[in-house]
Amino acid sequence: MLNDSIYHHDGALYCDSVLVSEIAVQVGTPVYIYSLRRVVSNLRRIQTAFADLQPHIHYSAKANANLAVLRALVEAGAGIDAVSGGEIYRALLAGAKAENIVFAGVGKTRDELRYALEQGVGWFNVENVGELHHLNELAADNGKTAQVALRLNPDVAAQTHRHIATGHGGAKFGLPAEVVRDVLARQADYPALRFDGIHVHIGSQLHDTQATQRAVEIALELIAPYPEIRTVNIGGGLPVAYAPDERVPAWDDFAATLAPLLRGYTVLLEPGRSIIADAGLLVVSVLYVKQQAGQTFLITDGSMAELIRPALYEAHHEIVLVNRPSPSQGEGRQAATQVHIVGPVCETSDMLGRSRALPDAQPGDLLAVLTAGAYGMVMASNYNQRPRPPEVVVTEDGQTWRVVRRRETWDDLVRLERNVYDNLA
Ligand code: LLP
Repeated sequence: MLNDSIYHHDGALYCDSVLVSEIAVQVGTPVYIYSLRRVVSNLRRIQTAFADLQPHIHYSAKANANLAVLRALVEAGAGIDAVSGGEIYRALLAGAKAENIVFAGVGKTRDELRYALEQGVGWFNVENVGELHHLNELAADNGKTAQVALRLNPDVAAQTHRHIATGHGGAKFGLPAEVVRDVLARQADYPALRFDGIHVHIGSQLHDTQATQRAVEIALELIAPYPEIRTVNIGGGLPVAYAPDERVPAWDDFAATLAPLLRGYTVLLEPGRSIIADAGLLVVSVLYVKQQAGQTFLITDGSMAELIRPALYEAHHEIVLVNRPSPSQGEGRQAATQVHIVGPVCETSDMLGRSRALPDAQPGDLLAVLTAGAYGMVMASNYNQRPRPPEVVVTEDGQTWRVVRRRETWDDLVRLERNVYDNLA
């Protein structure tokens, strides 16, 4: 969606003070563009909403792990929520202090746990008993004590897309309440672990505050017998609106619901989407306009390989013309028609937008897919041997832009196989 950083002025789309078309012309399409100013202002808006609780905000790197994005957030004071050795590696490269990294994830390998311990990662969010054993053993081997927050599965159903709900009993995530109770009663079995916190995250893009409230209440009941447990990590999940008519609770509402419960605790938050989604856009070019079966398809050079959310979750992203035709330029064009915006990938689900009203777009026109900063580039693939797109940031001054990841080349696509292949031949 359009916002203070991504807006039209005189018919042209801007990212802060930079013309989006200028970046697209110089770098080519498809291209991801992020406003670092918007990233940092989103962080500040979350801090303000939750001001009563003075939370430690750990940006969830899974949403967008570009080094420039991570660095801007680390410099603005955020910690990082990482779910793999790779994310920890990136966070450290971007300047995060190890003690400000939370290591979460359902299936951490021993190598990842060892790496995190060696680096001195601050928190381990643990969600299975086998992992507790591994971590205890590895920490003891390293002569360290690991700080643990058990991740509770509160068996609370979040109102969100079924693919991104995590807190219901049938999900693979977290530990059931009885297991949390049992582990806390047997802390002495894990001499190299310190059980200092509890963690709960019931899903992403949450549409109601009550489920989160219930989940936090259950977590607090479980730690009530242990007054030394003073930290509650309430996960991520703050929603963003993807469409003008999408009603989502304000971040203030989450804060107002949770603050009375959490007063006196140290609170950790792991927002991803709410920080980066609306700071990013994917710019694509129209290649062809195809009339078929009574429908109009705009075939673009962007696809599900660059942005898989519409294909995977039937997610809606607003799509706008980068340059809106002025009334005089618009003369030869028809009024808005319903079009499907699709990519070149060989899948029927390769659609960026279905049945959209766009002023009669022409080959060569640039389209911006909005609110694409989160779970966009990180979920991009090379399917159909498409080189992944470049990432550009508009820096915090709002004036300058930089390519912070170059476009992949065909050579990049074969690089990891080339030696083997050449040696076989
Ligand atoms: N903490 C935990 C434990 C998580 O599992 C997640 C997201 C977050 C924090 C960050 O959640 P956020 O603030 O971004 O909602 N690919 C999906 C979203 C997957 C979310 C996975 N976990 C999508 O494109 O909608």
